[in-house]
Amino acid sequence: MFALDADGLRGRRVLDVAAGPSAFTAGANARGIDAVAVDPLYGLPADALATHALIDHRRVVTEMRRKPELFQRGTFGSIDEAAAARAKSARVFVEDYAQHFVHGRYVGGALPELPFADGEFDSVLCAHLLFIYAARLDFAFHLAACRELVRVSRGEARIYPAAGADGREYAEIGRLRAELAAGGVTVETRAVPHRFFVGSGTMLVLRR
Ligand SMILES: C[S@@+](CC[C@H](N)C(=O)[O-])C[C@H]1O[C@@H](n2cnc3c(N)ncnc32)[C@H](O)[C@@H]1O
Repeated sequence: MFALDADGLRGRRVLDVAAGPSAFTAGANARGIDAVAVDPLYGLPADALATHALIDHRRVVTEMRRKPELFQRGTFGSIDEAAAARAKSARVFVEDYAQHFVHGRYVGGALPELPFADGEFDSVLCAHLLFIYAARLDFAFHLAACRELVRVSRGEARIYPAAGADGREYAEIGRLRAELAAGGVTVETRAVPHRFFVGSGTMLVLRR
């Protein structure tokens, strides 16, 4: 999703925002990356999160099967394969969360105000929150969220995907770019190798 260089990130501090029941943080730490995840759900007991992950998994898979025309072969060969990978990711997450919540690897918090200091992370990531919920989260939220992702990063922030749930580029990208540029932040749309659903081939890279 983020076209990351895992070797280059070894020993660096990475923040996954809106991480939910995903295995990124567990996998990154296993590779020697100092990764931390933040999500409003964190703080709940691990078994409550396991139930939440299961319900979320069913909802996403039902949605994928209802709209197979949105699925793109690439990272996964089929919807079944994608569903199995997501289920595994949720299991890895719950195990890692149960073990490492107490060590501060998983932090409760929400955009547009994250509980971290300015420039605390070398790299900041945010997948499947901004732009795909364009109907629920308005432009003001997107702008404030982008500024916040940049604030906690001393390098760059990456947002995936650059498209909305309909697979089209975020409709307000021009306005977002202009507002961020006025605050000294550049926005680059960059191709990524991940393919999952229509419009899943690009991310935004924000830099101060
Ligand atoms: C679709 S999930 C994405 C999970 C993960 N990033 C992925 O790509 O698989 C969206 C996540 O955003 C979280 N979320 C909702 N509102 C948020 C906010 N204001 N700030 C940060 N995260 C939020 C939800 O709790 C949920 O875990």
